[in-house]
Amino acid sequence: MELSHKPVLLEECLEALAIRPEGTYLDGTLGRAGHSLEIVKRLTTGRLIGIDQDAAAIEAAQVRLTDYMDKVTLVRSNFSHLGEILQELQVDGVDGMLFDLGVSSPQLDDPARGFSYMHDAPLDMRMDERAPLSARDVVNDWPQEELRRILYEYGEERYAPAIARAICRRREERPVETTFELVDIIKSAMPAAALREKQHPAKRSFQAIRIAVNGELDVLPPMLEAAADGLRPGGRLAVISFHSLEDRIVKKTMQELSRGCICPPEFPVCVCGRKPKVKLITRKPIVSQEAELEDNPRARSAKLRVAERI
Ligand SMILES: C[S@@+](CC[C@H](N)C(=O)[O-])C[C@H]1O[C@@H](n2cnc3c(N)ncnc32)[C@H](O)[C@@H]1O
Repeated sequence: MELSHKPVLLEECLEALAIRPEGTYLDGTLGRAGHSLEIVKRLTTGRLIGIDQDAAAIEAAQVRLTDYMDKVTLVRSNFSHLGEILQELQVDGVDGMLFDLGVSSPQLDDPARGFSYMHDAPLDMRMDERAPLSARDVVNDWPQEELRRILYEYGEERYAPAIARAICRRREERPVETTFELVDIIKSAMPAAALREKQHPAKRSFQAIRIAVNGELDVLPPMLEAAADGLRPGGRLAVISFHSLEDRIVKKTMQELSRGCICPPEFPVCVCGRKPKVKLITRKPIVSQEAELEDNPRARSAKLRVAERI
């Protein structure tokens, strides 16, 4: 189990952040502070701000970073509030920011959180347990068409229409309450051949519902823009994504932030006044080396993109 908690692309992130001992760094997805611990160890007079929306992550990080707490500020919040958080902490510029997106292994492994198709638990999947929307609400209340859309778009689930139909048929009898009830409904909507595939039949649907519950894609563009605004010139922004939808948004938003004038080519002079905010450090994403993949299967789909504030 410990192996799966290893921070992904650790060396690559540390190199990308080019840490200065007196700098200010921000880890927007603290988790168990795997990356943060290595960042803070490299600081002398510098400071680390760690953000996570999950209370359990903040608690665990506090323990892990205990020897360094004089340099650390932890904030329980969604990273979509990045601009306000920096303002409240009166931080006028950050030298490097890291975002290791998605769900953490401890969240998946804790049956009580209802993230996993491997454990029977009440349907929940909220990273922030204060949030109003849970997986139970999505599964029982969202219209069939909306369920189909998220299963197809966020899960790339080819049996999305049949699964959405099966969920709606079943919930007419009684609400779907648990992860295993949902797994059974998903399986009942898939052909026998699909059930024999290597991947668990509920994997894609669970991913889709988790992304919807936590609004995981919607928060990315505003976070990336606020990150670029919060960096000092020369400061680095490093983002690790785990599936193609996330990576596409990170890539596109970083590209937009790196573009200057967006006036039509036929305009003789620029009227938009837009200046590039970042330059791209990685044209192609950095991926894990073979040695890391042997140790940590979660690293297989990880992609690191890096930009630098101009
Ligand atoms: C992949 S884990 C990070 C693991 C961490 N880098 C480590 O080495 O231990 C992602 C963490 O980010 C948090 N998270 C995901 N989306 C978030 C958001 N929008 N705002 C704040 N925290 C978020 C999750 O709660 C989870 O703890």
